[in-house]
Amino acid sequence: MEAKFRRYKPGDEEGIVELMKTCFRTFNSWKLSVMDWIGYEGDDDGFSRENALVAEIDGEIIGHVQLMHRRIRIGKSIIDCGGIANVSTHPKHRMKGIATKLMQMALDICQEKGWQISSLFTGYGSDGYRVYRKIGYANTTFIHEYVGTCENVDNALKIMRRHNRNGISEMGEEDLNAVMKIHDEYGRKISGYCQRSEEYWRRKIMNKTYYQSFFYEGRDAGIRIVSEDDEVNGYALAFNTLKASRSQWTDRVGIVMELGAIEGRNLCNLLNGILNKMRKEGIKIFRLRIPMHEELNEALNHFEPINGAIYMDYIVNQKKLFEAMKGELEERIIEKCGELDYEISIGSPYGCTKLEISGGDINVAEGKAKNHIQVTNDGITKLIYGVKGFKEMLNESKYIIRIEADGEAIKIFEAIFPKRIFQISPIDEW
Ligand SMILES: CC(C)(COP(=O)(O)OP(=O)(O)OC[C@H]1O[C@@H](n2cnc3c(N)ncnc32)[C@H](O)[C@@H]1OP(=O)(O)O)[C@@H](O)C(=O)NCCC(=O)NCCS
Repeated sequence: MEAKFRRYKPGDEEGIVELMKTCFRTFNSWKLSVMDWIGYEGDDDGFSRENALVAEIDGEIIGHVQLMHRRIRIGKSIIDCGGIANVSTHPKHRMKGIATKLMQMALDICQEKGWQISSLFTGYGSDGYRVYRKIGYANTTFIHEYVGTCENVDNALKIMRRHNRNGISEMGEEDLNAVMKIHDEYGRKISGYCQRSEEYWRRKIMNKTYYQSFFYEGRDAGIRIVSEDDEVNGYALAFNTLKASRSQWTDRVGIVMELGAIEGRNLCNLLNGILNKMRKEGIKIFRLRIPMHEELNEALNHFEPINGAIYMDYIVNQKKLFEAMKGELEERIIEKCGELDYEISIGSPYGCTKLEISGGDINVAEGKAKNHIQVTNDGITKLIYGVKGFKEMLNESKYIIRIEADGEAIKIFEAIFPKRIFQISPIDEW
């Protein structure tokens, strides 16, 4: 019998949850319930039942993809992302194109909604990875983390003690506004940070301890601190798995999920504060999901860097993506090149986009200019987030297919595509 593909309708939740538990060991051991699935809508405004897609045979749900909405920050600009989650096909119905069809439906919905990009996390080379790759998703970056035991932490703490300059205290309700502002400001320096509503902060971070997609624990499992001099100048969030009651963590793991400060010099103080607290709570294995900032170099060198999941992107509408990034790109050009009149274009498997630069403004159009670069899908998504800068990419042959550009245009490409820090908080992971 042929499968029917459609969007969620009331009553599907049981079949969806059952299928997710069959396909993902993690959801099964966490005992994902229908209440969790429905309740997620209240906690995360990026999740909506309407965006659950299903494949059905004979009234039974045998395939599912969840489309999530995230507003991802790239400098001062924000792009709308259709996050792909929970891709699952019942074992009896695999290898027949079910997941591929559901993914294509998800991309059509992104197109309809005007979301410029679709992104996901997966294991490199996994069954899912191969499906996404065939559809055209690009390899943007691996998700990095640092790991260490008490030995690493104590060595790092010795170094950071020297920098310790101001007070660390527990983050309270009264600090939330200041912390939200810091997250916003800090997020401008990082590609991948997501814009959050106050409600999102309250529900996912203050009242519960969400640590990835649906997975959460009680408020107590979270460690939340702020640093302050006259006022709050930074915050850090961690998850203590020793206090987890729903999930099974066999080791004494603690995860630093976020650090944020307006001034880099406060980051060290915050890392010092949160690691100290985790150490006191009896954590033995430390996982740090934070980027390598220059200011943290010395401390992080005491940990081991490891690669986790791969983050993949599909550009749904390249012209719209550049339109959304216009403000940020204009600022980059003015800063590095000053005001100028020039036309450049960028071609990729997702489209060909012309940037007509006039003074400090950019007009985004479709088509090719005299000064043109042609890049692969992996190349364009790395450039968009700054996982690789254009300058760096010039020295590697695998991302740039063709360059037809004079010296001035090369300088503009270097200005609009600098290397940046990429980081997505596990709390926002879908
Ligand atoms: C990953 C998963 C969703 C794939 O589902 P699926 O419906 O089997 O996927 P598809 O049928 O679209 O594609 C799977 C393979 O079948 C092939 N295929 C697609 N249509 C086909 C057809 N009509 N006939 C034969 N083969 C076909 C695909 O090319 C792909 O081949 P590959 O594995 O050699 O690369 C499924 O294996 C699953 O649920 N796994 C557990 C959960 C999981 O890991 N999810 C992904 C998390 S990121």
